[in-house]
Amino acid sequence: MPDSEFLPGLNRPVEADVPQEAKNPAGRTCFELHLGDCVKGMRSLPDESIDLVVTSPPYNLGIAYQSYQDKLSTKDYLDWSLEWTGEVKRVLKKDGSFFINVGAAPANPWLPHELALTLRDHFFLQNTIHWIKSITVEPREGDPVSVGHFKPINSKRFINDCHEYVFHFTKTGEVPVDRIAVGVPYADKSNITRWGHTGGRDKRCRGNNWFIPYETIMSRSKDRPHPATFPVELARKCIALHGEDPATLTMLDPFLGIGHAAVAAGDAGVSRFIGFEIDEVYYKEALLRAGKANR
Ligand SMILES: C[S@@+](CC[C@H](N)C(=O)[O-])C[C@H]1O[C@@H](n2cnc3c(N)ncnc32)[C@H](O)[C@@H]1O
Repeated sequence: MPDSEFLPGLNRPVEADVPQEAKNPAGRTCFELHLGDCVKGMRSLPDESIDLVVTSPPYNLGIAYQSYQDKLSTKDYLDWSLEWTGEVKRVLKKDGSFFINVGAAPANPWLPHELALTLRDHFFLQNTIHWIKSITVEPREGDPVSVGHFKPINSKRFINDCHEYVFHFTKTGEVPVDRIAVGVPYADKSNITRWGHTGGRDKRCRGNNWFIPYETIMSRSKDRPHPATFPVELARKCIALHGEDPATLTMLDPFLGIGHAAVAAGDAGVSRFIGFEIDEVYYKEALLRAGKANR
């Protein structure tokens, strides 16, 4: 695609693709961060060269990004989703993992489900994870405990939306994962000896509800200058669940935003990280954050 062509959702021509390298100081992760359209960028990657994709595309919910217009017709959005995920499928290794985070809004409650169904003929839906942003637990004794943050929905019809989806797609449905790498301690320690599969370890599978609160921030514009990020911890957990030695992995995020997947890759010691972001402001922030990862 020529650089001057308009892309779905973008109200200005795409800037020339300017690859930048920001090798982190510890030298563990080689970051290849690109300013430009991810479909075009992924076309330059070889077949089956990526072990792990952790990403969050625009949700088509009218979010106010710097330049991307997040309001396509459902058909255009799903056609475009097939286009970019088609490139993901081509570059993903046979035993690779593709984690895609997507949320809904009262105005478009079907979006995550429509996206997952659109991908049904192309990937296996191996796991569905709920990213819980806030929850109230009512213990048998004592007061209810509320944790996490959410954006309140003031409505007579809708309840507050405190979760998003993370769909774990693979090419075969049979990719082994490391459940224990993201495991939790047993509440009842007698289970450690009762079950042979524990190997004496106080760790069990966490299940598919991942409580990951947003960090508390003092200044939105300084601390999180982007309207739709996932926490670094979400990407960290996806890397750990994929389970291979991070030092052997090439990881991709086609929708880099301000680079939280890149930071998680740096923290985990992923060998090579490739990212694309179409907006120059977010891209520069991602370069800064990736550069600081692992310092
Ligand atoms: C949901 S946000 C990703 C946020 C990211 N996970 C983070 O935590 O910072 C989606 C991003 O995709 C970018 N984007 C939209 N269309 C794109 C395209 N064709 N290629 C690359 N990036 C694009 C938007 O500018 C936006 O920053």
